[in-house]
Amino acid sequence: MLLELVEKRRSIRKFTEEKVSDEDLKEILTIALHAPTAKNRNPVRYIVIRDKKRLEELSNFKKNSAKFIASADLALAVVTDTDIAPNTNHQDASIAATFILLAAADLDLGATWANVVDARHESGISAQEFLHKFFDLEDKFDVECIIGIGHPAEEKSEKVPFEYSENVFEDLNDKVK
Ligand SMILES: Cc1cc2nc3c(=O)[nH]c(=O)nc-3n(C[C@H](O)[C@H](O)[C@H](O)COP(=O)(O)O)c2cc1C
Repeated sequence: MLLELVEKRRSIRKFTEEKVSDEDLKEILTIALHAPTAKNRNPVRYIVIRDKKRLEELSNFKKNSAKFIASADLALAVVTDTDIAPNTNHQDASIAATFILLAAADLDLGATWANVVDARHESGISAQEFLHKFFDLEDKFDVECIIGIGHPAEEKSEKVPFEYSENVFEDLNDKVK
């Protein structure tokens, strides 16, 4: 049931030493490759990072909020080719990244999205620029996010949804706040 899966999925930032199996990684990526993209243009590319030293370096791609990547067993960089989808690359990447988060949760793995936009590396360059150097990417590519994945070393309560009555409007006369 999808409802059970979305209740189970939480951002997990602490991981055990256990390896994510190649089968699980393949399943996560296969699920991401089912994600819809505008006009079916498929601008999304995935970079798999499994080397411990690279993960450590990657965890410093921005000053805050990405340190959890150092203890993840692997990270996936969700990247788009802006030549293929200049207007919808962010939407396409975000849907694929969401599929990855749900796929990881379904496999009882932990995962968290680390955002790239507007972030800076400690050297002062943008996180985007740092990641272009880190992955040796051409200018046309855009890194949407880095997702750290591993076996969870923390437990979180079920996801509590936002209030239906405050967020859903069924009548045109309802006032959207
Ligand atoms: C677009 C987006 C960007 C996020 N960026 C970060 C981030 O840079 N670092 C981080 O630790 N968590 C990040 N998160 C995770 C959110 O903090 C998390 O989803 C939110 O607090 C709700 O918690 P939950 O995922 O457990 O439901 C991001 C999530 C989204 C959807």
